[in-house]
Amino acid sequence: MKGIVLAGGTGTRLHPATLSINKQLLPVYDKPMIYYPVSVLMLAGIREILIISSPEHLDNYKRLFGTGEQFGLSFSYAVQPRPEGLAQAFIIGRDFVGTDDVALVLGDNLFFGNGMSELLRRARTRTEGATVFAYHVENPSAYGVVTLDRDGRPLRLVEKPPEPESPWAVTGLYFYDNQVLDIAAAVTPSARGELEITSVNEAYLARGQLHVERMSRGYAWLDTGTHDSLLEASEFVRTLQHRQGLHVACLEEIAYLQGFIGKEQLIARGNLFAKTAYGKNLLKLAKDDEHHPEFLK
Ligand code: DAU
Repeated sequence: MKGIVLAGGTGTRLHPATLSINKQLLPVYDKPMIYYPVSVLMLAGIREILIISSPEHLDNYKRLFGTGEQFGLSFSYAVQPRPEGLAQAFIIGRDFVGTDDVALVLGDNLFFGNGMSELLRRARTRTEGATVFAYHVENPSAYGVVTLDRDGRPLRLVEKPPEPESPWAVTGLYFYDNQVLDIAAAVTPSARGELEITSVNEAYLARGQLHVERMSRGYAWLDTGTHDSLLEASEFVRTLQHRQGLHVACLEEIAYLQGFIGKEQLIARGNLFAKTAYGKNLLKLAKDDEHHPEFLK
């Protein structure tokens, strides 16, 4: 399975902070925002990742991640000339995806929760159709919304309904089989002029191939779209890291625990960032992991 991170957009809601930098490069506490969605793909076991961003920002991502070998990954890069909708990821990424299945994650979506790896593995191993994740929110009209029947099966999808009939928002993490390439290619622009991911999901729903996994109250799905929500996300990560002494979305740590890199690489990266808690965490892991590797996962 391939992975795509969509990290373009104009970031207008975060101006002037995003006048000269792409939103997904802003820090959420101690690391760039994009680390969090990349960590989700890694936890799903995905190692080939395409980063899509706007022409003026793509080079920053290349500088940040390079080939990806430091995480045992392989990164590719592609430009989205204009932010014309999430479904465009599959038009731009068509050759990259080839004949494989693909997961898409939005560069500004931050997930945290016990059992995340298991949830992701279930979605990944489903061989037919699409899997999306529904999250109970207080303000559904800001999102794509799914209405579920009593058994949790999807009935309807609506993008940003002014009067939502369900509290279940569709998060920015999607797993698709290869049909998505043709489905996305056939999507037409919505009233707001975008190729909507909700239209792609509706096509799967119409085929009876849309699976919805509910993320229970034990999960955090955080918004980073406004100055306040961005600060709250940073505070959330800081609180967890300080209390537990465990790091969220520490990519080298995940790579090591997933077996993508070895101890030597882990130590080399730790030394590179030795002045920070992030680097110290890597060096500590290299020392400690014999004691409780299962717990750390
Ligand atoms: O976050 C989940 C929501 O994401 C879903 O519930 C909605 O169904 C989905 O449409 C989307 O909602 P938004 O309209 O809020 O997405 P936004 O335009 O804010 O874009 C999400 C991220 O993707 C953002 O970081 C910018 C990036 N992006 C967006 C567009 C439209 C791109 O890179 N290219 C694009 O063309």
